[in-house]
Amino acid sequence: MNANRVEKIITADADELAAAGADIFCQISQEAVARQGYFAVAFSGGSTPRPMNKRLAQESYLTAVPWPKTHIFMVDERMVPLDHPDSNFGTLQKDLLDKIPALHTQIHPMPEMGSPEEDAERYQRKLENVFKNLGSNDPVFDLILLGIGQDGHTASLFPGHASLEEKNRWVLSVKGGQPNVFRLTLTYTVLNRARHILFLVSGSAKADMVQALFTNRRAGLPASKIKPVNGKTTWLLDQEAASCL
Ligand code: 6PG
Repeated sequence: MNANRVEKIITADADELAAAGADIFCQISQEAVARQGYFAVAFSGGSTPRPMNKRLAQESYLTAVPWPKTHIFMVDERMVPLDHPDSNFGTLQKDLLDKIPALHTQIHPMPEMGSPEEDAERYQRKLENVFKNLGSNDPVFDLILLGIGQDGHTASLFPGHASLEEKNRWVLSVKGGQPNVFRLTLTYTVLNRARHILFLVSGSAKADMVQALFTNRRAGLPASKIKPVNGKTTWLLDQEAASCL
């Protein structure tokens, strides 16, 4: 792991992790808008980021984060209806998006009911159009929020999958994970262009994988391939997740 651009922050517990994550999110959003006039962020799913997302919906962050200048994308999505409990966007909508003053034209859920391939191409075109309108031919996110699974996956990039080798496309359809369904996922082509990657990892169940990632003990783990070319990676861990470091 390239120590120069990797920061590790350890919090006492999951609640402090949520608070620290919300503060980092807020700071990056303000810096991005001051620098370029907008903030582009992509959210992962799963359970870990939910306390942070709910915190971002609280009054202080509703006013501190420049939501009207924020463009919201998904890192990955399970191809289930939005009202399904496994929908990443549906969950994010309940926890945060229904409460923020962002323009609905700046909130971009991944399509989830077409053919996986067509939906992946559709989302890639969405990314291309939005970033072109923002003045960039590349999908350079100011912040991408990631988690890790106990198997070392991140986004919906799973160990041993061909999607780990994708060098061109920005969005792929894959099948795997828990639940084992068709998914859309951003690829390393996008993830490693981010200005800032923020991993949120909580709980003792992740401790062994965190240790494996920080010691490069196991080759080829999907999360170990997250190396932003011109960006920074922050690992935000609670003490339980960091207990094997
Ligand atoms: C997904 C997520 C996935 C998640 C990890 C961690 O759609 O499954 O994007 O990559 O970040 O599986 O999930 P937990 O936070 O629930 O442990």
